[in-house]
Amino acid sequence: MKDSTVVVILAAGLGTRFKSKLPKVLHSAGGRTLIDHVVRAVKPLASRATFAVIGYQAAQVEQALRSAGHGPGRGPGSGPGSGEVRLILQKKQLGTGHALAAGERQLRRAASSNRGTIMVVCGDTPLLTTATLRNLLAHHRRKRAIATVLTADMANPAAYGRILRSADGSLLAIVELKSATAEQKKIREINTGIYCFETRELFPALKRVRKNPVSGEYYLTDVIELLAKAGHRLAVCRAVDPDEVAGINDRAELARVDTLLRLRKARELMIAGVTIHSPETVRIDPDVTVGPDSTIEAGVYLNGGTKIGPECVIGAYSIVTDSQLAARVTVKTSCVITESQVDDGASVGPFAHLRPGSQIGAGARIGDFVEIKKSRIGRLSRANHLAYIGDATVGEDVNIGAGTITVNYDGVNKHQTIIEDGAFIGSGSELIAPVRIGRGAFVAAGSTIHDHVPANALAIARARQSVKPGWMVARVRKLKKTPKTHS
Ligand code: UD1
Ligand code: CA
Repeated sequence: MKDSTVVVILAAGLGTRFKSKLPKVLHSAGGRTLIDHVVRAVKPLASRATFAVIGYQAAQVEQALRSAGHGPGRGPGSGPGSGEVRLILQKKQLGTGHALAAGERQLRRAASSNRGTIMVVCGDTPLLTTATLRNLLAHHRRKRAIATVLTADMANPAAYGRILRSADGSLLAIVELKSATAEQKKIREINTGIYCFETRELFPALKRVRKNPVSGEYYLTDVIELLAKAGHRLAVCRAVDPDEVAGINDRAELARVDTLLRLRKARELMIAGVTIHSPETVRIDPDVTVGPDSTIEAGVYLNGGTKIGPECVIGAYSIVTDSQLAARVTVKTSCVITESQVDDGASVGPFAHLRPGSQIGAGARIGDFVEIKKSRIGRLSRANHLAYIGDATVGEDVNIGAGTITVNYDGVNKHQTIIEDGAFIGSGSELIAPVRIGRGAFVAAGSTIHDHVPANALAIARARQSVKPGWMVARVRKLKKTPKTHS
């Protein structure tokens, strides 16, 4: 069979029930925008082209599609067949029927005028799978239907359009909740908003759709009744999993779908050999990878393109974003790690903060309340407690004492600190950058260092201690004699 399917994603609506400035389809669930999920599900199906009808905040939706890698672009690899999404502009959002009609010219051309099939999906059904859509398309072909509606049986049919059938089971119409009678509201079979249409009959029928008197919109669903009355062959395909076709209309539904998608990802990792404590509490983005025998404790967020090697432990409530952790890395509880890299066997936390551009060498230890920014920490070096290391290059086997601060900012510019292999920085030191601490040098505790320290030297830069024996005895005696002058 020569395939000629065009897919249209309806995504021009504002999503009134979201009560948001952001278009509905750009809200995220499971680490991707709603429209990104839908595009990924439909892409393998459209032999001709994939379109999105956009309107409300069109530029923003277009930009989001582009940054998710769905085009539209102008360079090589764009154009028909490249998998990019082409855009249809619906200037005013006057309903789903109006949305499809807005694309008539482009869609007819892509579907080679009258011969092709147009599959319509909504931009707000993120759980949809390619398999279900394939099944719908095959059903539509098998039945040689002019229109096929994907339906689902919902325990709670809520606000979905209801499927009206005749006594012999054939499809008559779809009625929206607002226009449904009490009797029709009891129908459990709902319209998923996903359909296949034969191009040649779709557009003439769309032209005959009248404005709905209740909402003032042009409903795509009305096409079904028009086609049925004209005697066209219609078909119904039931979705196996009603959850999969759920349309997301408000933020409560968004949260439910997010939970489902997060669990899907967690399960995938567990099957691949990752231990996850309380999987219902972790949030792992779809592109994150985790090696076998790693453990993800409760409440962990793994975001963006994070890659975690084998045998790592990510402690409870840590948040790792766009970072690479090699093998056997331990992240203890409540760390924040962003755009950083941690090498084999290193340990971070509890309560450590690795800011962008941090690179922690193999076997290094970054302890509690240590903040590192844009710095490289060499193999086996240690900053075990309470330190700020920014814009620094730290060599191997360096000890950074508690309370050490690299003073990297003079109010205008950032400056570099270099600490060479084997150096020892005593507790409570301030290293005023730019400054270099030579190989094997020793900075005495409490020093404020602003000059370079040569290799193997001792640098001590603090006020000398003076001791006055018996001073307290004299003080007490004096205080007793003097009458109090203040209360
Ligand atoms: C629609 C169906 C309903 C079905 C449900 C499934 C209609 C009239 N109703 O209702 O039968 O049960 O989907 O989820 O079709 N859109 C546009 N332009 C517009 C209006 C909407 O592009 O002018 C887009 C929206 O961005 C959205 C999709 O169409 O992605 C569906 O619109 P929505 O308002 O969510 O329709 P529902 O009320 O859910
Ligand atoms: Ca919807």
